[in-house]
Amino acid sequence: MKKVLIIGNGAREHVIAETLLRSSHQTSVITYGSATNPGLLQLSTAYEVGSLSDFDNLKDFANHTKPDFAIMGPEAPIAAGMADMLLATGIKSASPLKVSGALESSKSFARDLLQKYNIPGNPAFKVFYKSEGIREFMEKLGGNYVVKSDGLKGGKGVKVSGDHLETISDGVSYAEECLREDGKVVVEEKFIGQEFSLMSFVDGKTVVSMPAVQDHKRAYDGDKGPNTGGMGTYSCADHSLPFLRPSDIQDAHDINVQVTKALYEETGVYFTGIMYGGFIACKDKVGLIEYNARFGDPEAMNVLPILKTDFVDICLATIEGSLDGMQIEFEKKATVCKYIVPEGYPDSPVKGEKIEIGSIPDGVKTYYASVDQREDGLYLGGSRAIAFVGIADELDEAAALATSAMDSVRGPVFYRKDIGTKELIQKKMDMMTGLRSC
Ligand code: GLY
Repeated sequence: MKKVLIIGNGAREHVIAETLLRSSHQTSVITYGSATNPGLLQLSTAYEVGSLSDFDNLKDFANHTKPDFAIMGPEAPIAAGMADMLLATGIKSASPLKVSGALESSKSFARDLLQKYNIPGNPAFKVFYKSEGIREFMEKLGGNYVVKSDGLKGGKGVKVSGDHLETISDGVSYAEECLREDGKVVVEEKFIGQEFSLMSFVDGKTVVSMPAVQDHKRAYDGDKGPNTGGMGTYSCADHSLPFLRPSDIQDAHDINVQVTKALYEETGVYFTGIMYGGFIACKDKVGLIEYNARFGDPEAMNVLPILKTDFVDICLATIEGSLDGMQIEFEKKATVCKYIVPEGYPDSPVKGEKIEIGSIPDGVKTYYASVDQREDGLYLGGSRAIAFVGIADELDEAAALATSAMDSVRGPVFYRKDIGTKELIQKKMDMMTGLRSC
């Protein structure tokens, strides 16, 4: 019997629970989250609602429920040292300790690590501790710059010239704001290309990569509108993406391998958990945009439903350092995940309105996120509400399945219609062909 403690309460944690419960081990899950997720609640034998930063409360819950191991969904608890705290009470985690979680929680740490260990993937970059030199560096980059707040900002810390910042003066002002908050800021060259996520299971020495996934950050069709936590993602049956060359995936995997080794050399601590590289296929190389130390959301909903290998065994191997020699397999299926979100999301989302889900076709998985289950039905919580994942042999089939589930939802909501469609994929392929042929 294995009892697993899940930290978090989103759709990502819902799919983590579902995948753990598919294990051939007799498994139960218990959840500690900041709100009640109706899907997770149904799957959990115990569910504690509390602040993710209230380690005393979590410790009491863990002492009372005695899980065999824990897994953390969101980044903030990892950055705050939750795995360290649980370890001190005798509970290991399939998530990294604070020191190796710095790969995500400090943008400068990640850039410096790649540079120090000669790992490819870095853009031209500089870490600034005061504002002198920032303008000159942005000018040297030809005005094509990215400003990254060093610490975690819930996905809102990165601003890009041309997208969020019009002029170099705008960039300098934002960099100064970051300096006031964190005492340091990263300014770097803007990569041009197509982004993709490559997540790997890592036990500190062995790195096993999952199918590549592409996320869509913008709120509206055509990659327009404000940035969001991610409106949807897709992955293909061949575990690559239509605009990638096989060498792109190999290069990204190799970067994850080299970073795993470098992290141990640098910190003396093995990175155990999910290493999520946010990569970009550029004209003649693969660039590293940033690292996360956890499953992506929505990316987890693409890869976990098609994971064939026992997820409890993978988590245990991650913790015990025995991933080497383990055969990890995914079904050869295409997946399209789309989030249904409240009208007004992300800037002024409606909240507390009722929604109704109609009939969901076979081949679609449903994962709850920010929704409240009341006696008379489901109500919007004010953020991404429900993720639907279409799973099929072909990408457009998977997209159509997800779309049909989205269309069944009644209420003040919207979703992106273009994710995973032939038209949008073709645009991305044309963009890469143009970039790589010039
Ligand atoms: N999909 C982006 C993230 O999980 O951070």
